[in-house]
Amino acid sequence: MRTEIRAFAPASIGNVGVGFDTLGMAIAAPGDEVVARLSTQSGVRIALQTGDNGRLPLETEKNTAGVAVQHLLAHIGRMDIGIELDVHKKLPLGSGMGSSAASAVAAVVAVNELLSTGLTKRDLLPFACAGEQVASGGFHADNVAPSLLGGIVLIRDNATLDVHQLPVPEGLFVVVVHPNVQVLTKEARAILKPDVPLKTHVLQSAHLAAFVTGLFTHDLALVGRSLRDYVIEPQRAQLIPAFYDAQKAAMDAGALGCSISGAGPSMFALCEGEEVAGRVGVSMQRAFDHIIIKSSIYTSEVNQTGAYLM
Ligand code: HSE
Repeated sequence: MRTEIRAFAPASIGNVGVGFDTLGMAIAAPGDEVVARLSTQSGVRIALQTGDNGRLPLETEKNTAGVAVQHLLAHIGRMDIGIELDVHKKLPLGSGMGSSAASAVAAVVAVNELLSTGLTKRDLLPFACAGEQVASGGFHADNVAPSLLGGIVLIRDNATLDVHQLPVPEGLFVVVVHPNVQVLTKEARAILKPDVPLKTHVLQSAHLAAFVTGLFTHDLALVGRSLRDYVIEPQRAQLIPAFYDAQKAAMDAGALGCSISGAGPSMFALCEGEEVAGRVGVSMQRAFDHIIIKSSIYTSEVNQTGAYLM
């Protein structure tokens, strides 16, 4: 048995614009890394946390990685065991790129291997969701599931974690632009109205269904015209400076569609081909440059691997 295991879990795009709390997509990088090792002192301890400038709690019960591992140990009936975690945050915090989810995912993947539990990645989903819930304030798998399993994931029901991986059309590229401002998921959820008008519900369900159809039929044009958020985007756009300028820049540069990544402030665009994706990223960044907000661009294909051991 190895005494130390390191795992990587990638960033993810919650909601994918068209499916609030029900769709998620993994990107190649960046991602968080967690090192797990056995300890003689029973219980789960965060031994080290880097990359967060001291902003995230080290107390196990408040740490997404710590809580996720506690749930895993409870499940296998090994609360007696001692585990130390080093959490290396490589994703920006409060970015809408699934940072809390990635730490929870990397932690359970590392500990699962360390203890040779025999559980599959899919089995680890509820524990990582329980960990992520500490930060986001809700039990939703739209970041955890893609970060863990990879690909584009549909969550039919978050309570029972009825999740399904969807086909990824060839040539589909993803651009994420992260403007250097912070939006906390808890706060971005708190501003949402609890009700959706019937007309809006009809429009949004049709778009979600058509988006999924486009993935199954590899019809990128349908994917593009279905990528519209009539429910959440109009309420959260105000949290992202220059949101509409960046969105217009993406569409003018040839994106299939563009919306908010998770709870924001990151924005994502889907594109056909790497060249278009490169152009779209630069155009979106210019919109943030214009209002003197620094931003980072991440371009990749959809990550179909998810979390892995390093
Ligand atoms: N579905 C979540 C939200 C993703 O939009 O609030 C962020 O955790």
